[in-house]
Amino acid sequence: MINEAVKTDWANLGFGYHKTPFRYVSNYKDGKWDEGAITTDATVTLSESANVLHYCQTCFEGLKAYTTKDNHIVVFRPDLNAKRLIDSAERLQMPTISVEKFIDAVEQTVRANADYVPPYGTNATLYLRPVLFATGEVLGVKPATEYQFRIFASPVGPYFKTGGASSIVLKVSDYDRSAPMGTGDIKAGLNYAMSLRSYVIAHEEGFNENMYLDSKTRTKVEETGGANFFFVTKDGTVVTPKSSTILPSITRRSLMVLAKDMLGLKVEEREVYLSELEDFVECGLCGTAAIISPVKAVNDHGREIKFANSQNGYGPVSKKLYETLTGIQFGEIKGPEGWVRVIK
Ligand code: PLP
Ligand code: COI
Repeated sequence: MINEAVKTDWANLGFGYHKTPFRYVSNYKDGKWDEGAITTDATVTLSESANVLHYCQTCFEGLKAYTTKDNHIVVFRPDLNAKRLIDSAERLQMPTISVEKFIDAVEQTVRANADYVPPYGTNATLYLRPVLFATGEVLGVKPATEYQFRIFASPVGPYFKTGGASSIVLKVSDYDRSAPMGTGDIKAGLNYAMSLRSYVIAHEEGFNENMYLDSKTRTKVEETGGANFFFVTKDGTVVTPKSSTILPSITRRSLMVLAKDMLGLKVEEREVYLSELEDFVECGLCGTAAIISPVKAVNDHGREIKFANSQNGYGPVSKKLYETLTGIQFGEIKGPEGWVRVIK
């Protein structure tokens, strides 16, 4: 059932599945994708031996549609989501979706659900979840021959229950999220299945999220279950972990560009050691869902590392980054050419 109440309460939305009337579906069979179309059917009927159910041959994306100050609907850098989905699909031996088909599908989905893009000023957005999965039947371990590409939409508010601007606390996880030469750098469903146990443990212990370390040495900061990190040094340099086993976050890549080119900050993408966290004064998570979520502390097996300037929400640098990023997305600030795609 579609919950029309979301439309009267945009400002109190959390990050959840609020079904909208329309989704885009395209199916792959006999070596090719069909045209694709908008449908109202929110369900998927699968064979019990569909590859996705057993061998997790599935990957996904996440992006948002925003209502701008001048009342247009826009999406943020969908070409980068399209390219990342191609990388994910190739790594999982799935047929790829062209950048053009992906963007067209995003546009069709947003247009069809335009009534569910939250108005400007509510801070809510329409989250889009493109997902590519193997519908084809297999029994032995091998790639399927049939697939579905689907995009559904859900109006959303802040990712963390604390609300977007409140600081969260993280636990250093005892579990690994990805391995060298593994799948940490793509958006594979299996990476998230792997993280659910540590998610539950962290929440049971009163933490908001996990900080994962590199699985080879367990000394370097990787990312959380659903966002990349950035840190700020005492002299205002923005530092973000460099690793081949984390997801190349579009938000993080965008933040590094605007920190340097629009805010004139020094930025560094380099290995970040757990042992140096005490040196930073701000810490933030960045991602489409997380936007920028300030982190007040990281708990490393009882040792609490606090970030002095992000104790009560955004520190000054994170705040500038947040305001600039969301300012571009909501059409208040002009961003770099091509970052914002107008749909309506
Ligand atoms: N890291 C992980 C594991 C994620 O799931 C996400 C979300 O997409 C991100 C980082 C942030 O990436 P992006 O900024 O492209 O949303
Ligand atoms: C996103 O930020 O779009 C993601 O896919 C992260 C997920 C944990 C919600």
